Amino acid sequence: MVQHFLKFSDIASGEIQPLLARAIELKSGASSNALGGASVVLLFEKPSLRTKLSFWIGTGKLGGDPLYLSPEEVGLGTREPVADVAKVISRMADIAVVRTFSQSTIEEFADAATIPVINALTDAEHPCQALADVQTIVEQLGSVEGASVAFIGDGNNTAVSLSYAVAGLGGHLTLASPGGYELPAAQLEGANAYGSASGGLVTQTTRPQDAVSGADIVYTDVWTSMGQEDETARRLAAFDGYQVDPALLDQASPNVKFMHDLPAHPGEEISDGLLHDPRSIVFDQAENRLWAQAALMEKLI
Ligand code: NVA
Repeated sequence: MVQHFLKFSDIASGEIQPLLARAIELKSGASSNALGGASVVLLFEKPSLRTKLSFWIGTGKLGGDPLYLSPEEVGLGTREPVADVAKVISRMADIAVVRTFSQSTIEEFADAATIPVINALTDAEHPCQALADVQTIVEQLGSVEGASVAFIGDGNNTAVSLSYAVAGLGGHLTLASPGGYELPAAQLEGANAYGSASGGLVTQTTRPQDAVSGADIVYTDVWTSMGQEDETARRLAAFDGYQVDPALLDQASPNVKFMHDLPAHPGEEISDGLLHDPRSIVFDQAENRLWAQAALMEKLI
């Protein structure tokens, strides 16, 4: 049975900790030839820096060969049906790393694929980012269990996957979002169900000050995600008052760390210079994409 990673809850909550431990081992220099002789195809419908870099370089570190296919050359679902592309790639490659707009496109791809398919971001989830995020929190705090994480902003793909990851490891995540931009109700319920055995909890508020009070981690993401550009003006107005700046971090725990999955839009969801605040760990997060995904590929292959 082929195992995919299309949404964070595709891995059982009990499997997260060992995966992070392996990611940290690989980061510390453990060598692996888990992908020796294997090919990893990266098929992306949206732009990417960190995801493309980290899967490409991570594949090489595990002894495999990466191949990138741009949206133009494939025409996923336009030049050729999604299922046919999945079948062809499955005949030649060993893992498919896929970034699509719609979650249903990657699901359709995985249904037809006979190799593991990894979600490299969809409109609904960003599960690889969440793996790197919880790895980063473990490195900083020693554990996610009992940690207090505040997510300020849009209840988007990044927020959804982070909710599952934090709850699954027994952490508490509070999202502060304006009305209409909360975590989808089904995902709030899903993340709480996923985290219930670990003592995890996800709650929603409209007040950033309430979310950050006592928080060990303050996290934000862009207000306008890829594909939502025509909503920019409406979103800028809706998220007024939700910017993360040094003064908001001052209201969190004295040892608070600031996280962002990048790319950031300074002047919107963060104040200018916040990425370089001494409390920022955003570049650790970016690096950990490499190690968390290497551990994930080892597991799926
Ligand atoms: N929410 C953002 C994440 C980018 C890595 C987006 O989907 O554009």
